[in-house]
Amino acid sequence: MIKIEHLKKAYPNVTPLKDVNAEIRDGDVISVIGPSGTGKSTLLRCINLLEKPTAGRILFGGEDITAPKCDINRIRQRMGMVFQSFNLFGHLTVIENLMLAPMDLLGKSRQDAYDKGIQLLRTVGLAEKALNYPDELSGGQKQRIAIARTLAMDPEVILLDEPTSALDPTMVGEVQSVIRDLARTGRTMLIVTHEMAFARAICSRVFYMDEGSIYEDGTPEEIFDAPKKEKTRRFVRRLKVLELKIDSRDFDFLGMARDIALYCLKNQISLRVTNRIQLAAEEMTQILRQRLSNVRINAVVAYSESDEKAELTLDYSGPAMDVTGAEENLSLRVLSGISSGMTYTYNEGEELPNQVRVDIRQNG
Ligand SMILES: Nc1ncnc2c1ncn2[C@@H]1O[C@H](COP(=O)(O)OP(=O)(O)OP(=O)(O)O)[C@@H](O)[C@H]1O
Ligand SMILES: [Mg+2]
Repeated sequence: MIKIEHLKKAYPNVTPLKDVNAEIRDGDVISVIGPSGTGKSTLLRCINLLEKPTAGRILFGGEDITAPKCDINRIRQRMGMVFQSFNLFGHLTVIENLMLAPMDLLGKSRQDAYDKGIQLLRTVGLAEKALNYPDELSGGQKQRIAIARTLAMDPEVILLDEPTSALDPTMVGEVQSVIRDLARTGRTMLIVTHEMAFARAICSRVFYMDEGSIYEDGTPEEIFDAPKKEKTRRFVRRLKVLELKIDSRDFDFLGMARDIALYCLKNQISLRVTNRIQLAAEEMTQILRQRLSNVRINAVVAYSESDEKAELTLDYSGPAMDVTGAEENLSLRVLSGISSGMTYTYNEGEELPNQVRVDIRQNG
C-alpha cells in the first residue's frame, strides 16, 4: 500500500535519510527502531508529507504523493499521525477535539461526528471525559484521546512517533494497551519506539534504521533474536545492557543509581527489580571500594527481556579476591537478600581479572 523508493531527505547540515526503500503492505504493523538521530521521525514525517523529501518517491496506493500536483490535505486525511507530545487543542473539550476534523474535512454532520467521537472514546476507555479539557487529563489519558482523534478520521494508515516516550512510566501501559488493540484491528501502522518488548509484542515487522537507510528489515524474531548485520545486533543488545565504569574511590555513586534507574525505565524493568539492581550495585561497589587499593571496576547491568532476568556483573582490578566469600558483613547480608545467586570467577591474565556476578531476585 505504501512504496518508498530511494527516498532522500537532506537538511543543510545533515542528511538523515540517504536512500530509503521499503514496501509496506496492507495490515502491516511495523516497529521502526534505531539509534537516536537516524531519521526515524524524519521518515514518518516524509511519509505524512510534513517534510518534503529531497529526492525519491513515495507511492500511496499506487499514487505518487511526492509529485507536485498531489493534494497533500487529501492524502493526510488517509494517514493519521500520533505525536509524542499529543498535540491536542487546549481550548476545545475532548469531544470537540474528536469532532473538529471529521466535520471540517470530511463534511460530517455535528451529530454524526459526536456519535462517532463518543464511540471512539469508549474504545479508549474515556467516554466519561468527553466534556473535559485536555489540561484536566493525565498524560496517558491525553495520548489515548490523541489516538481516538486520529481514529475519528478513519485513516488507512496510522503513524505513531514514540507515542509513550513523553509519559510518566505509570501511564505507559494504558497507552500501549490501546495501541495493542488497534494493531489487532488490521490497520496498517508504523510505530517508532524505543520499547523493544512492546515492539516485539505487537508488530509483524521491524525496520532497523541506520546509516540513512532501513538497514535491516525483518520479523521481530529475525531482528531481535537473530539479526543478520552486526550493527543491528549491537543495537538490539545495547538496549539491554548498561555499562558503568568506576575508576576512583570517590566515584559518583548517586549518578550510578540514576543511570541504573534510567536504564530500567527504558527497559520497563519493574520498580522492585530496579531497586534491587541499584542496591546490589551500591553494596558491591561499597565492598570493593573498601577493599581494592586501586579502584577500577567495570559494572554491567544486563537485562534479558525474554525471561525478565536481571544480573549485575562487576569486573575489578587487583589480585584474586572473592568478595562473595568475605566474612559476614552488612553489605553481604543485604546482597544475599536481593539476589538469587552470586558467583565469583578469577580470569588469569585479564586486565580486570576478578569477576563477580549477582543474579537479581525477581520475586519475594
Ligand atoms: N527540521 C530540521 N532541520 C534540520 N535538521 C533536522 C530537522 N529535523 C531533524 N533534523 C536532524 O535530522 C537528523 C534525524 O532526526 P530525526 O528526528 O529524524 O531522528 P530520530 O531517529 O527520530 O531520533 P530520536 O530517536 O532521537 O527521535 C538529526 O540529526 C536531526 O538533528
Ligand atoms: Mg524521533
